[in-house]
Amino acid sequence: KPVSAAMMAGAGRLSFTNITALAPMVRVGTLPMRLLALEYGADVVYCEELIDIKMAQCHRVVNEVLDVVDFVAPDDRVMFRTCEREKDRVVFQMGTADPDRALIVARLVEKDVAAIDVNMGCPKEYSTKGGMGAALLSDPDKIEAILKKLVTGVSIPVTCKIRILPSLEETVSLVRRIEKTGVTAVAIHGRLKEERPRHPLHCDYIQAVARAVSIPVIANGGSLDLVKTNADIEEFRKATGASSVMLARAAMWNASVFCNTGPLPLERVMEDYLKYAFQYNNHVFNTKYCLCQMLRDKVESPLGKQLQAAQTNAEISEAYGLQEFYQQTQDQLRAKRDVLQSFTQP
Ligand code: FNR
Repeated sequence: KPVSAAMMAGAGRLSFTNITALAPMVRVGTLPMRLLALEYGADVVYCEELIDIKMAQCHRVVNEVLDVVDFVAPDDRVMFRTCEREKDRVVFQMGTADPDRALIVARLVEKDVAAIDVNMGCPKEYSTKGGMGAALLSDPDKIEAILKKLVTGVSIPVTCKIRILPSLEETVSLVRRIEKTGVTAVAIHGRLKEERPRHPLHCDYIQAVARAVSIPVIANGGSLDLVKTNADIEEFRKATGASSVMLARAAMWNASVFCNTGPLPLERVMEDYLKYAFQYNNHVFNTKYCLCQMLRDKVESPLGKQLQAAQTNAEISEAYGLQEFYQQTQDQLRAKRDVLQSFTQP
């Protein structure tokens, strides 16, 4: 894409008007998937939800061999890996129930990401029991405190992602209140927190909110029956009256849904994904998880079984006939490590 809608507005500040985004997805939204979505045409990519308590313990490490910035936990686990290619497009989504801690984390990543998002829709117990995710929906004072703190405390855009409330009026008034905090945009998953992803989407709620506020509304929740192809994205945008569209499952199943030149076969998508996974040394279990999600009902096929048996990236590369590419990537990384070491050693 020559000039993306995402970067048109102003001095490099990420715009959420008329964009298509990769939704935040735990385990799925790691670096290889985000780069793949960008390559295929997504304007904005959200990382998986990262919990403020865990992130606050991380330190920032520049990895010159991989050309990435890592946020590393005390146990040496990489919680968040990002790179220059996505710097202007990546939204850091956090799970939080605490304004002060949210700001500490936002400041920690501020220079390396394009925007900060707060998850206010996750209905899972691990989120809600700490007052995070969808639990925030019943605590608008807390929502306001967190968002105001972030908006005034960081220099990049702040957004949030919510679900709808039981009535249209409540939903509209919540988003009006959210708008007043100064957030740049709001993503709305058009389902109640009790509803499951297979339940029909309430497009009318998204539409009512889009009419009521002036910040961009990002419509979400259409993957199962409304958005199957790239052309459906625009239909979904129109049906919801929203400014922008965010896709989770449709992108997880086949990220080429972002391609406006038509879909790519899954084999090709998995191969493109693996190239990023190898290049950025993605954790083997995470790579396997993402590929299994893509395979869906084919996960018990011969390829699926070989993938599930793989314990290393090398073994995954064999399952996909990508040994040569894998080896080349490893050789290049080794050569780069040697060069860098020769600079640092006397
Ligand atoms: C999600 N979803 C989600 N939402 C969020 O705000 N933060 C997250 O980390 C996650 N994690 C996550 C993982 C996986 C595997 C799925 C499928 C979903 C919800 C997601 O962003 C989205 O709101 C819903 O999936 C509805 O959108 P689609 O799938 O209909 O496009």
